Amino acid sequence: MSKPIKLIILGAISGFICMVLLVWLCSRSSAEKESYALIRLNNGQLIPNIGLGTWAMDDDQAREAVKEAVSVGYRHIDTAWRYGNEVGVGQALKELFESKQLTRDDIFITSKIWNTFHSRQLAVKGIEESLKNLGLDYLDLALIHWPTGFKAGTDDIYPRRDDGSIMPSDNDIVDTWRGMEDLYRNGLAKSIGVSNFNIRQLERIIRQASIKPSVNQFERHPFLIQQELVNYCQNHSIAVIAYSPLRQADPQLLENPVLKDIAQTHNKTVAQVALRWQIESGVIVIAKSSRKERLIENMDIFDYQLSDQEMKRISTLDQNKRLIDIPGIQSHSEYPFDN
Ligand SMILES: NC(=O)c1ccc[n+]([C@@H]2O[C@H](COP(=O)([O-])OP(=O)(O)OC[C@H]3O[C@@H](n4cnc5c(N)ncnc54)[C@H](OP(=O)(O)O)[C@@H]3O)[C@@H](O)[C@H]2O)c1
Ligand SMILES: *[C@@H]1O[C@H](CO)[C@@H](O)[C@H](O)[C@H]1NC(C)=O
Ligand SMILES: *[C@@H]1O[C@H](CO)[C@@H](O)[C@H](O)[C@H]1NC(C)=O
Repeated sequence: MSKPIKLIILGAISGFICMVLLVWLCSRSSAEKESYALIRLNNGQLIPNIGLGTWAMDDDQAREAVKEAVSVGYRHIDTAWRYGNEVGVGQALKELFESKQLTRDDIFITSKIWNTFHSRQLAVKGIEESLKNLGLDYLDLALIHWPTGFKAGTDDIYPRRDDGSIMPSDNDIVDTWRGMEDLYRNGLAKSIGVSNFNIRQLERIIRQASIKPSVNQFERHPFLIQQELVNYCQNHSIAVIAYSPLRQADPQLLENPVLKDIAQTHNKTVAQVALRWQIESGVIVIAKSSRKERLIENMDIFDYQLSDQEMKRISTLDQNKRLIDIPGIQSHSEYPFDN
């Protein structure tokens, strides 16, 4: 063989080895980074399929939890005007932006208008207040927190009659939805949606809206699966966000024998199984924790899969056992939970 040909063969062989090495290295680093997925909403926007819930955190707790969560990989934060912690969430974001750990584009922020903001104008005002609290100029997702409008302008976030029942607003949910559409059109919210809406209410919005809701956020865990509502939303390309996925750390759920058995099979915790089950149901999930080790645990669900049989076993745990409700709204004409 002549020298040049030998050199060409040698070059080809070493090139091939380099390529194999490169492919191996890439696949290794992507395996280490196994992480959440981005889901495309019906308006083209992307949302991480797991997020941090912040309910019941005060400003200080929210500030610390958001910083911890971002440091361990969360890029989706769920708050609300009602939680009273938007200022804390905003402080964390400001610090993260200033230290260049994050840019605004890197993180998905959801907030919600409270029940005393139910009209076209008030919905806009509610989100403007949230943005001011957060120190942001847009939300990634703005939601109507509940379909049940409360009487506005009383300074009371739960305006009640003497018998404890809530004083409703006169406004129709479609009117409130028009306000959400205004927010979408003027760029204050990249996506808009609803929360705690039932099929009947979604149907009315879809029929009369010019912009379809991108999301319905509602309670969902193995004891309250709501498969019909999930199917309806998925059929209408409305993304589902499951809240209280651990049933707020209900011991009955966390110590459920079926979930424990499945968890053991995969060397995972029950919480990790409950969260993974949502992901595999095509649902986005938000779980709350103020503890770093649990923030990590709840995110560590993207390196394994539940079998079809395990998914079926979990679906047998459904008991229609709802946790979240508001005292005094059961007589409201838009009470969502009795259909
Ligand atoms: N749209 C609505 O009307 C609505 C209603 C309710 C909730 N949400 C949203 O959904 C989010 C999540 O729901 P949620 O806060 O009600 O309940 P959740 O996420 O089901 O449960 C939170 C509780 O579970 C504990 N926990 C977290 N990870 C755990 C783990 N790996 N093992 C054991 N315990 C764990 C937390 O304690 P530690 O903090 O001590 O870890 C906390 O007490 C809320 O924070 C809120 O953002 C929305
Ligand atoms: C969803 O769509 C499927 C297939 O078209 C249909 O069979 C089912 O009844 C729909 N479910 C709901 C809840 O809309
Ligand atoms: C089980 O999971 C724990 C925690 O992630 C890990 O430290 C341990 O090595 C795992 N054990 C096996 C047998 O994989």
